[in-house]
Amino acid sequence: MHPDVEKLFATEEDLKGIVARLAAQISADYKGKTPLFVGVLRGCFIFMADLVRACDIDCTVDFMVVSSYGKGTTSTGAVKIIKDLTENIEGRDVIIVEDILDSGNTLSYLRKYMLARKPASIRIVTLLDKPERRTADVQADYAGFTIPDAFVVGYGLDYGEKYRNLPYIGVLKPEIYS
Ligand code: IMP
Ligand code: MG
Repeated sequence: MHPDVEKLFATEEDLKGIVARLAAQISADYKGKTPLFVGVLRGCFIFMADLVRACDIDCTVDFMVVSSYGKGTTSTGAVKIIKDLTENIEGRDVIIVEDILDSGNTLSYLRKYMLARKPASIRIVTLLDKPERRTADVQADYAGFTIPDAFVVGYGLDYGEKYRNLPYIGVLKPEIYS
């Protein structure tokens, strides 16, 4: 285990199981449709790569880059779009893919932003959900794990851009960020 990680939260095996469950639900719900997965970079990149490969429906992908955090562990509340959608989402069944739903600021903003572009439908899939920390009015339609209020890294999730490459999810030692 990485020396900055206090304890393991989800092993590679756990993650595989959760991703398979989410992909099976999505594949059943979107049978006969061609949803557009919109990943919120950079945190989604590993989860989304595994999720779309586990889905057995036709789909397309797009990405947005937003920033809300900088280097810290708490949301600033302000969401800035660094890279917008490439695809026209009008009439599409959009599935937003997030690594973690925390305060909900990012997703509540993105949902409104995309709704204004008139998709046929819009749903949210998140690997991790921290409902205790929610301040914005937004829920995930598909969530992998519900987690308590701890700062986790790995499998795409970072602290100060590090740890994204860990193949598991671990709780970061508090002394690393305090
Ligand atoms: P929200 O806007 O507060 O919901 O924050 C969502 C974003 O905050 C996520 O996409 C992550 O990039 C980041 N974030 C929130 N909690 C964690 C965590 O425990 N570890 C790593 N990143 C986190
Ligand atoms: Mg982040």
